Amino acid sequence: MNLKGRDFISLADFTSEEIWYLLELARELKEKQKNGTPHKLLDRKTLAMIFQKSSTRTRVSFEAAMYHLGGLGMFLSKNDLQIGRGEPIQDTARVLERYCEGILIRTYSHQEVIDLAHYADVPVINGLTDDYHPTQALADLLTIWEHKGTLAGMKLAYVGDGNNVAHSLILAGALTDMEVVVASPQGYQPNPEIVAKAKSLAKDPTKIKVLIDPLEAVFEAQILYTDVWTSMGQEEEMQERKKVLSKYQINQQMLKYADKEAIVMHCLPAHRGEEITNDVMEGPQSVVFDEAENRLHAHKAILAALL
Ligand code: CP
Ligand code: NVA
Repeated sequence: MNLKGRDFISLADFTSEEIWYLLELARELKEKQKNGTPHKLLDRKTLAMIFQKSSTRTRVSFEAAMYHLGGLGMFLSKNDLQIGRGEPIQDTARVLERYCEGILIRTYSHQEVIDLAHYADVPVINGLTDDYHPTQALADLLTIWEHKGTLAGMKLAYVGDGNNVAHSLILAGALTDMEVVVASPQGYQPNPEIVAKAKSLAKDPTKIKVLIDPLEAVFEAQILYTDVWTSMGQEEEMQERKKVLSKYQINQQMLKYADKEAIVMHCLPAHRGEEITNDVMEGPQSVVFDEAENRLHAHKAILAALL
């Protein structure tokens, strides 16, 4: 499989076979790291990493991934770049491509990432936009695969705000033949166009569902997933969101409706006591830190395959 030169903007741009190729490569690179086997597949290559929003996991795991692969990741915050003073994205793209073999960007508008990719000849990786979080979803698939031994046929219940993380998970599930059931209140449901896109990609479109009732979604699910109720950029709506989403908390009571062996996932950062209780997050079914670790391994696969 050859993915050299491709962008990683949305999972909808990839086939099921391509996703599996990345997952297998991620697993191989994870094993190499655990064994202490060098895997310098990107000797002296460089990645520009533009962050217009905060990040712990994405930033550190991509930077560490580039280093482990023999290259260099350069963290560029909006305060340091001329973007912050109004330099247009098309100029930034054409400058960074002269120095770097790839560009990672975390920003608000998804269109900005598409524009960046249009102007840059090197691969562009979406490190989160208001609409999608594809690198997270790839790491999530890796985590489910490791914990459950398979993806096809698993039921994943996403409970809460139908946000960027939910959108990428719906697409990820569709491409790997999982059942993805999202439960969100009216007004906070995932974008119907993205849901339709996922259905069009799925082997069985009836496996992608959007509901209101969280308990119906969680019923017998093998994977429970949630994310913050207020994403970056939505801080002004926080009080309203806390009210509307209060019944969508993953807690011990909700866990009882899921499969006995269900795992609990969260992309982090978490707001304990809001979308997830502290006891569930710290409990035996939580795999949130394995999930966070897998960002590193999944990102290595993306970088090694694309750059
Ligand atoms: N899950 C995730 O993307 O975390 P950061 O915001 O810390 O990068
Ligand atoms: N939905 C969250 C995810 C953070 C990793 C946000 O966009 O802020």
